Amino acid sequence: MTTQSRRVEHQQTDKGTVPVYTTAVVEQPWTSYSRTDHATWATLFKRQQEILLRRACREFLDNQGKFGMAPDAIPKFGDLNRVLKKVTGWELIGVEGLLPELTFFDHLANRRFPVTWWIRKPEQIDYITEPDLFHDLFGHVPLLLNPVFADYMQAYGKGGVKAHGIGAEALVNLTRLYWYTVEFGLIKQDDGLRIYGSGIVSSKGESIYCLESPSPNRIGFDMPRIMRTRYRIDTYQKTYFVIDSFEQLMDATRPDFTPIYAALSQQDSIPAGAVLPTDKVYNRGTGAGWAQDGDV
Ligand code: PHE
Ligand code: CO
Repeated sequence: MTTQSRRVEHQQTDKGTVPVYTTAVVEQPWTSYSRTDHATWATLFKRQQEILLRRACREFLDNQGKFGMAPDAIPKFGDLNRVLKKVTGWELIGVEGLLPELTFFDHLANRRFPVTWWIRKPEQIDYITEPDLFHDLFGHVPLLLNPVFADYMQAYGKGGVKAHGIGAEALVNLTRLYWYTVEFGLIKQDDGLRIYGSGIVSSKGESIYCLESPSPNRIGFDMPRIMRTRYRIDTYQKTYFVIDSFEQLMDATRPDFTPIYAALSQQDSIPAGAVLPTDKVYNRGTGAGWAQDGDV
């Protein structure tokens, strides 16, 4: 473990933004956060808490409370770890920026969740193209206290190590699953559709859009279908997939994916905004405002 922490961010080039990867695990330099950093946390925390009150799933909201996360200061990883370790055995580790895929999978497979130590600048409060502390911590950490979801994340890490060994296509299939569940998933609860995806809960605009806008599709969870579905990294999603429970997620992903990857390699990918005859449709999106190209 290194002790000094750098802030590794995407680099601006004449070809646009390019990600920079780093493998270091660092101590959270808590005393080095500025008043501005804590104020950024406070602003984002209060704003999202209010928006998420009737929009995030109950597990997310309950667990946030169990951690005692509050707006007054950026939480200390050490304090959160005491709770996490006891309940699900996960541990947060500090990182400087994006990790290479295999490094990321290896951490998850060992119940270590990497959290970017630095928080976005005030001018990035509404939008940032890369994960920062607010996304990683506010967005991902609460559900790590849920035993079923905690197991799902570890299984995903193990599956990632395996897919990495199988090949690039398998990895694309698996990454889509992460994208449409962990980052942008919706869940059907007694009182209606709710958010559990971290990419949504850490975004003011998308927290409202994903549930209330008529534009996007909302479709029942279907694992092989998701693994064929392209996505966008630069706009709100065109399609959200809805699970019935975290158990459903866990059960669907329990089988060995090796034969599934082989079968999928014979099939075309599906555009991000498509609706198929086999889909269980909660909302057929109007498509208003969708970008016409750029699904990846
Ligand atoms: N069962 C999957 C495999 O064999 C691993 C996995 C688990 C993937 C959970 C995603 C989520 O590869
Ligand atoms: Co994330």
